[in-house]
Amino acid sequence: MRNKISVIGAGFVGSTTAHWLAAKELGDIVLVDIVEGIPQGKALDLYQSGPIEGFDAKIIGTNDYADTANSDIIVVTSGAPRKPGMSREDLIKVNANITRDCISKSAPLSPNAIIIMVNNPLDAMTYVARQTSGFPKNRVFGQAGVLDSARYRTFIAMEVGVSVEDIQAMLMGGHGDEMVPLPRFSTIAGIPVTEFIPKDRLDAIVDRARKGGGEIVNLLKTGSAYYAPSAATAQMVEAVLRDKKRVIPCAAYLEGEYGLNDMYFGVPVVVGAGGIERIIELPLNDEEKALLQKSADAVRSTIETLKTL
Ligand code: LAC
Repeated sequence: MRNKISVIGAGFVGSTTAHWLAAKELGDIVLVDIVEGIPQGKALDLYQSGPIEGFDAKIIGTNDYADTANSDIIVVTSGAPRKPGMSREDLIKVNANITRDCISKSAPLSPNAIIIMVNNPLDAMTYVARQTSGFPKNRVFGQAGVLDSARYRTFIAMEVGVSVEDIQAMLMGGHGDEMVPLPRFSTIAGIPVTEFIPKDRLDAIVDRARKGGGEIVNLLKTGSAYYAPSAATAQMVEAVLRDKKRVIPCAAYLEGEYGLNDMYFGVPVVVGAGGIERIIELPLNDEEKALLQKSADAVRSTIETLKTL
């Protein structure tokens, strides 16, 4: 039997995620949105690309959560994107309400599902999803680190002129401008990246990676990135459904790891059929710890804001 993946939100991120999922033949897909016609139209259009691309996936669009029942995975992309000049945190009020609505309608119909959050402010919305669903922490996590480290890897590849495939890079922290790319844990084919790139250039790459989402918002002017965020999400879905045990950074619920409690935060984890199966604690130096603390403070304050809404 095929897996069932529900993607809530049929905007650019949701529909592009459905596209990558179908192309990878990861399962049947239900695309949900409140706008009538949009999920149905996009799903039918995507379904009709199957004969050309050669994938077998049933793809339906709907406005009715009943169609999502018994999903293996629920991906939540619904919410307003940023406009130029906005931070991800500016979206908190509107997107917290949307998240509560989506999760309270979808989670009870798929009590064994794994929930992957994609909307912003990411760490806080993942916190809301866990609270609203009541699911165990291993089955609710957020997509951010795969995207942020992909941006960082892309910039390293552009700088050195080598294949993106040979670049391994770790990045931690919240999905905000305080995120922490970690050059000490980044390599090109196992060779430390510092052997290829001088410090001033590496600093500039780290800075560009941290602000990578804003760079795209400023270019598009009407919304935020979607190709890379969606590809990152599909990689996480694949890690679960194919039980790949991928070692990737994700927004995970922390209970003491890295000295942090009761918050979602980007850390390296092992993702497989059980969702987040393990959190990896890296031996950070004092400088890295200080940067991580700054990012944690920013996420903590966004999560505190939730309580005032
Ligand atoms: C980004 C937004 C989607 O990083 O958070 O592109």
